[in-house]
Amino acid sequence: MINVAVLGYGTVGSGVVEVINTNKDIINNKIKEEINVKYVLDLREFPGDPVMDILTHDYNDILNDPEVEIVAEVMGGVNPAYEFVKSALEKGKSVCTSNKELVAKHGPELIKIAREHNRNFFFEASVGGGIPIIRPLNTSVTADDVLEITGILNGTTNFILTKMSKEGLGFDEVLKEAQDLGYAEKNPSADVDGFDACRKISILASLVYGKHVNFEDVYTEGITKITDKDFVYANKLNSSIKLFGSAKKQNGKLFAYVAPMMITSEHTLYSVNGVFNAIMVKGNVLDDIMFYGSGAGKLPTASAVVSDVVDAIRHLNDNVYTEWEEEKLELSDFDASEKKFFVRVENTAGKEDEVKASFGDVEIVKVDEFNDEFGFITSVMSEKEFNEKVSKVSGVITRIRME
Ligand code: HSE
Repeated sequence: MINVAVLGYGTVGSGVVEVINTNKDIINNKIKEEINVKYVLDLREFPGDPVMDILTHDYNDILNDPEVEIVAEVMGGVNPAYEFVKSALEKGKSVCTSNKELVAKHGPELIKIAREHNRNFFFEASVGGGIPIIRPLNTSVTADDVLEITGILNGTTNFILTKMSKEGLGFDEVLKEAQDLGYAEKNPSADVDGFDACRKISILASLVYGKHVNFEDVYTEGITKITDKDFVYANKLNSSIKLFGSAKKQNGKLFAYVAPMMITSEHTLYSVNGVFNAIMVKGNVLDDIMFYGSGAGKLPTASAVVSDVVDAIRHLNDNVYTEWEEEKLELSDFDASEKKFFVRVENTAGKEDEVKASFGDVEIVKVDEFNDEFGFITSVMSEKEFNEKVSKVSGVITRIRME
């Protein structure tokens, strides 16, 4: 029998217990052992729930029980998860987590501790919910120079942007719907300000490049300034607006960012709609590959956690090497990264000439719906150059980066 402890009985934690109970025979067949959830740790009580038989409020019950070989940490947040996970690894238990804050901040240290103890620290569910992406990056995409990894990494913002695009609704209205449906939190900042996607792209880029990408170094812009009017232009341009998390090599430099991007229907990620996530990887010999699926939600996320548990059981006394060193990966200054920009300006007398005087030849975009403004698309230029040029134009309403 292999004993597992689950830290946290919230949405994902109850999902982990449910997945193990529902698919017990399948899982047992895969591991040629019997899996058993011996403990669930939570501060709360759950009267009437069978989990009460295995519920503990004291982490030491788990830490000091030598029969517990695997810990599934699904509490979220850095504290106390960090101390719990670190001490479990030091006690010779493998840990599987869905906790992107923990992985983005302490990933390389926890990977190292697991390696030193010949155990495993797995985190498939920390990015892309149920989508297998961590394991493929670690074990499959190893023969390539990865030129780019770009993802729609946040289901809540993708739901909001998709609704705005397809139904012409405003940001606040759709955010409220996302909250009513339980996708967005009451305080939606982590999602709509891009912080969640920032941690996820930091994890992916660290795995791809083998050194630590500090999430605080990643340029991060959320979707709160995107309006229904932006989508009128996007539709006219046969495009959509998606929140991208990306790490990309350009002109011999490596950039990482989270930002809303206007993309045409030709783009690989254009059709990723609603709460779905997708991650596109471009290798120098592999070319483009894409991973797609449910990026959030109780059971898809729990599925990824339990698949890590299965892998940890298959490698009980055997560390699966993960390339993510503590050494910091230096990112290039985002100001030097290059792209086109879509800009909306107030349509006052002489404005087109003013725009062209600063930007040179641009593509003007007019839509029937608005007479008091127009849009234009710049040529490819650096962020720095764009900021210099746009500062010379008055009446700028907004700008969105393009791919
Ligand atoms: N809030 C996240 C999302 C949950 O909307 O994608 C999954 O990390």
